[in-house]
Amino acid sequence: MNGSVYGWTQAAAQREKIRSVKAHFRSICICLTLVVGGLQMVPAAALAASKGSEAAGAVLFRDKGCSYCHGVDGKPGKKGPNLTGLRSDKQWPPDKITKQILEGGQKMPPFADSLSDAEVADLVAYLRAKHKPVPPPVPAPPPDPAPAAAN
Ligand code: HEC
Repeated sequence: MNGSVYGWTQAAAQREKIRSVKAHFRSICICLTLVVGGLQMVPAAALAASKGSEAAGAVLFRDKGCSYCHGVDGKPGKKGPNLTGLRSDKQWPPDKITKQILEGGQKMPPFADSLSDAEVADLVAYLRAKHKPVPPPVPAPPPDPAPAAAN
């Protein structure tokens, strides 16, 4: 009698122990999954955000008239220095680029009134991009309806 009770308790205790080890193991797994998943997610999200910003900056650079003066893709512009190498130019840290865009320079107009903070940040991201994204082509203007109407 005594022996069987002891045996039962021992078996139950054993089961309990296995269950707790299993639970413990499962929580370790969940933790690892979260940590590993988190590690992968953070840079991916940051990268996606900065890529989006660079691409948006590329469009702004073209549409806000920057490329008229500065040129694009290493091609010289009409009135300003080429900015292709700005990324590696130690004289132009991001905050100085931001200031130049907002306040302009001797021959460059200020853009503080025509660009939002986010747009300026996108332009800086674009100018500092390792591989400058090419903006999508400007959509072709709709065909002139006049000749069609004449028919
Ligand atoms: C009317 C022509 C003109 C336009 C438009 C223009 N810039 Fe400039 N930019 C210049 C000139 C000229 C300089 C050289 C410094 C000076 O005169 O301010 C310059 C300098 C810069 C510099 C500093 C780099 C250097 O080596 O001097 C940055 C960054 C810059 N421009 C970014 C921009 C951005 C971004 C835009 C569009 C939002 C823009 N510029 C629009 C003419 C222009």
